[in-house]
Amino acid sequence: MEFSIKSASPEKQRTGCVVAGIFEGRKLTEAARAIDAASRHFLTGVLRRGDLEGKLGTSLMLHHVPQVPAERVLLVGLGRERDFHEMAYRSALAAAVKALRSTGAAEAMLCLTDLPLKRRGTDWKVEQAVLAVMDGLYRFDRLKSKPPEPARALRKVTMHVPARNDIAEGTAAIERAAAIAEGVAFAKDLGNLPSNICTPTYLAEQAVEMGRNDGVRVEVLEQKAVEKLGMGAFLAVARGSREPLKFIVMEYRGGKREAPPVALVGKGITFDTGGISIKPAGEMDEMKFDMCGAASVLGTMKAAALMKLPINVVGVVPATENMPGGNAIKPGDVVTTMSGQTVEILNTDAEGRLVLCDALTYVAKYKPAAVVDVATLTGAMVIALGGVATGLFANSDPLARELLHAGEDAWDRAWHMPLWDDYQEQLKSNFADFPNIGTRAAGSVTAACFLSRFAKSYPWAHLDIAGTAWKSGPEKGATGRPVALLAHFLARRAA
Ligand code: BES
Ligand code: MN
Ligand code: ZN
Repeated sequence: MEFSIKSASPEKQRTGCVVAGIFEGRKLTEAARAIDAASRHFLTGVLRRGDLEGKLGTSLMLHHVPQVPAERVLLVGLGRERDFHEMAYRSALAAAVKALRSTGAAEAMLCLTDLPLKRRGTDWKVEQAVLAVMDGLYRFDRLKSKPPEPARALRKVTMHVPARNDIAEGTAAIERAAAIAEGVAFAKDLGNLPSNICTPTYLAEQAVEMGRNDGVRVEVLEQKAVEKLGMGAFLAVARGSREPLKFIVMEYRGGKREAPPVALVGKGITFDTGGISIKPAGEMDEMKFDMCGAASVLGTMKAAALMKLPINVVGVVPATENMPGGNAIKPGDVVTTMSGQTVEILNTDAEGRLVLCDALTYVAKYKPAAVVDVATLTGAMVIALGGVATGLFANSDPLARELLHAGEDAWDRAWHMPLWDDYQEQLKSNFADFPNIGTRAAGSVTAACFLSRFAKSYPWAHLDIAGTAWKSGPEKGATGRPVALLAHFLARRAA
């Protein structure tokens, strides 16, 4: 996809489609007004006939608009003008892209990036538009025997800005957004691939290939090396699977040689059956998404490398399946983690924290400036925040604030959850240092509490993406979150 910025008059554009907004109550935006005037009030006539009220999410495609050189004019409802904030802007973009993809237009000019939006500048609006276009055009059909629809026509999107001096800012935003969009698409692909294809071995191969193309050093540790490191918890989860485990280490060095890196740790359970504490059959297919934390770490490494961020980043992924079987761990088993702490595995389905805890111990060797782990860790997180916000836990308030801000910037938002000592009380065992689960209450918090015991030597944050990493229902699929949040976090740190 090719993106560009223009400030020239929309009514004069020779393009496949000009997209202009209409507020509720049939109120024309500036671009719509210009087209209306050029076409001797053709738009006013259409609206008067009641074909579009301006409701958010609606759109109307017009052909042969008189005196306008564009092949089509797409009117998009923006909702009420005084409610036109980030969310409405994003819905309008999504509706526009949806309408565009069902036409033959190869080029389009988006006159939505020129709309005033409280607290948001051209850079933000352009970035969101690029991400919305790439998100709306994303399809995962490589596993269909025949392509289900004709190849998409849209090749070039021009974004309209109010003035010539917005062009430089818009162009820089395109570059950044295109890098993020690539990272997001990479994460979506990995998430959407089923577990018979996306195995730990496949994840490792993808990391190696990404490293080769984008300049990231990748090393993959196998069973033997992991045993030598004493990762007893990670090894315990991997026991039940016939797929060999992989411990993937990626290093992007964009910063000063001696600058301590940011470490990203992603949960890479390529399928979570629950193990001996087996899950019910309903919706178990969605547990192929249990490596979305890992996917987001790979996607973010890719985006950081494409943006050439002047920062050092280490990405670490413990990858395995969680399976039942004759060799699998059983409830009550006690294992020794790499940290030396012993854990009583009361529920084999709480495996994410078991693979992450050893990875958190491993990354300490980098003396990292900060560590962020990303994991589809708890079903309780879905109940608490749904698919809107990612749960954020941290042992450092400044780091938490940084991530919250990055989420706001990227509009890939997180919500700060408590990690108070009061919750640690739930983790008591008669047989080991502590168990891998607490009671049912506040399940996401006790999971974070468990992790915190392995993250004592550096500023650390944990992102529970169980609700945000993928969508269920008819539009089932990976979202690529929180690649945008993490990319913004790294960019802020690099600046
Ligand atoms: N991968 C799951 C968490 C999950 C479940 C994410 C459903 C999204 C949707 C995780 O490994 C898990 O099974 N967690 C258990 C923990 C429990 C046994 C303490 C859960 O949340 O039920
Ligand atoms: Mn599980
Ligand atoms: Zn899991």
